[in-house]
Amino acid sequence: MRNMAEPATPSKTPQQADLMVVGASEIVTASGTQALGGKALDRVHILRDAALVVAGERIVAIGPEREIQSQWQATRTLDAGGGVVIPGLVDAHTHPVFLGTREGEFEDRLRGKTYLEIAQAGGGILSSLRGVRESSQAELVQALLIRMDRFLALGTTTVEAKSGYGLSVADEIKSLEAIREANARHPVDLVPTFLGAHDFPPEFRSDHAGYVELLCREMLPEVARLGLAEYFDVFTEGHVFGIEDSRRLLERARELGFGLRLHADQLTALGGAQLAAEMHAASADHLEHVTPSGMQALGQAGVVPVLCPLVPIFLRQDQEAPGRRMADAGLPIALATDFNPGSCYAMSLFEVLSFGALRYGLMAGEALTAATLNAACSLGRGSSVGTLEVGKLADLVLTDLPNHHHLTYELARSPVQSVIKRGKLVYRAAHVAREGLA
Ligand code: NIG
Ligand code: FE
Repeated sequence: MRNMAEPATPSKTPQQADLMVVGASEIVTASGTQALGGKALDRVHILRDAALVVAGERIVAIGPEREIQSQWQATRTLDAGGGVVIPGLVDAHTHPVFLGTREGEFEDRLRGKTYLEIAQAGGGILSSLRGVRESSQAELVQALLIRMDRFLALGTTTVEAKSGYGLSVADEIKSLEAIREANARHPVDLVPTFLGAHDFPPEFRSDHAGYVELLCREMLPEVARLGLAEYFDVFTEGHVFGIEDSRRLLERARELGFGLRLHADQLTALGGAQLAAEMHAASADHLEHVTPSGMQALGQAGVVPVLCPLVPIFLRQDQEAPGRRMADAGLPIALATDFNPGSCYAMSLFEVLSFGALRYGLMAGEALTAATLNAACSLGRGSSVGTLEVGKLADLVLTDLPNHHHLTYELARSPVQSVIKRGKLVYRAAHVAREGLA
């Protein structure tokens, strides 16, 4: 990457730009376009007395504030008020296309039922399926727009969005078209994933082979033809799509040009990680039950492990992904919410950063890299977002945190003051009390 301390070319007449961000205590960012693991996971730049300049949608300069001020003139200046500035957060795993919530199941779990018991009794994914099948595309878009407003207010500027609660040709296409429409109408960038292999719909309860056939013959080709998804995802788990079914689906998806993602080793150690490695998937997600050989396979194949530390807490499961061990083994872990109505009704990546620290032992810089650069790379967006560097999109979050350690230290309050997406100020926190750092 370019050396950020290096002064930009000196010139007498200041260059014109659209936006300048000044007054940050620290601008904190990873660098580069490749997902980072091992020691590099914590190699964030902490720029003090620095400013950042935006022209159009992109960052055109970043460096010492005094130099920047003498070299650039911007139409608009934003004062970060002595807070930390970070790249827009990237959520690499969400299921946001649903109508209706499942708080009853949450309470069933408080009474002792497990996620699997609820699913096998006809709840779980199938209860969300009813919601999607009964709703129109316009209703799904409306729900998505509200959710994207909330993501944005929490500092998330890129969201991977899975379908997967329709599970028929028409209902999956409706879900993916809703994602496409919300993407066009909202500043948050959505990355669409076709999760047709989330579960078996009721009409295929006793004909699993028939549904796999439908996916291969009809659904995958149709989604590909319409260009509605960049990725294909499969819930690889004993009670849904086993290793053989998953492999067949992934091979078909790859043949049709989709990037691949897997829900792998979430509830049992089925070998989803090994399959993700064999298929050279972009990501293997969850991994609560990953084995040492699964971890090794992921590392060798360069698959990004997308970890969702809030999920086992929400499901009241003891087993967690070995986040620390993966990072130490050099795996370029990403952190995500897994926002969905069943296993994690939470949208805040700031919360995920804190739980990445508390549950896996990640340092603030490691957690930030995982939820920005590494997440972006898992979505094929490493060269456009995930870091604050010249040439990348100007996606940034101004916080009221005094230093970057507070990214993980502080729990359960949004520190977001302003969000800039593609160079535009798209969110500003309302202040009801005094402004400042405390
Ligand atoms: O990531 N594991 C499968 N899919 C979701 C849960 C979806 C649901 O319960 O609605 C997950 O945990
Ligand atoms: Fe998920």
